[in-house]
Amino acid sequence: MLGRSGVHMLMALPLLGLVGQWAVAIVTADPRAAGLSAEPIAYSINTLGLWALRSLLLTLAITPLRRATGWGWLAPLRRPIGLWCFAYATLHLSVYFGLNLLGSLEELAKEIAKHPFILFGMAAWALVLPLALTSTRASIRRLGAKRWQTLHRLIYGAAVLAAVHFILRVKGFQIEPWIYAAVAALLVLARVVKLSPLSRR
Ligand code: HEM
Repeated sequence: MLGRSGVHMLMALPLLGLVGQWAVAIVTADPRAAGLSAEPIAYSINTLGLWALRSLLLTLAITPLRRATGWGWLAPLRRPIGLWCFAYATLHLSVYFGLNLLGSLEELAKEIAKHPFILFGMAAWALVLPLALTSTRASIRRLGAKRWQTLHRLIYGAAVLAAVHFILRVKGFQIEPWIYAAVAALLVLARVVKLSPLSRR
């Protein structure tokens, strides 16, 4: 069975791959040959964003999957996958703000005015931040299990915002963001069905 360290190793792979690609690009002075495309910064932002979204959806999938299969070993994997979601989202925004906008808040304001999809990403990140900050056992004790659980429902809001962020980001119609949005909608629905009085009968 996959344990926590297995999750950490698997979830670190896309990041290690990206770092490796950058190392090759720097040594060869050829980002294209390293698979980073002609716009290596944009490529990196998109890769980190995609992994943030994938790990967000994976975190949401753990509980329904555990219920459907009865695989109890899945439960402890939710927290490390959730933390990787936060790590990828934070790296995504840091590369964008640090390398693309060179840390300029003025540029960020201009970009938001031009591309409102960025606001949806920021809102999604603002929802995962408190979850990462309260991910420890000590936080569960401090908040009490009930309040902690209610707070952690923010993850469903983050999934919806992140899916909209992706849909609005692409120009014209592309199927990929809609596939992610459909998965997000199914996972939110699974939660709503679980909360409904009918499912408790
Ligand atoms: C939970 C938080 C977030 C998730 C899950 C997320 C996810 C994504 C995804 C999936 C993409 C598209 C990748 C592709 O087209 O292949 C993307 C693009 C982008 N995101 Fe986010 N994002 C998040 C937060 C943010 C934040 C906080 C910002 C900015 C402050 C941001 C700025 C951008 C930008 C600028 C792009 C387009 C990059 C480009 O075209 O070069 N995102 N994001």
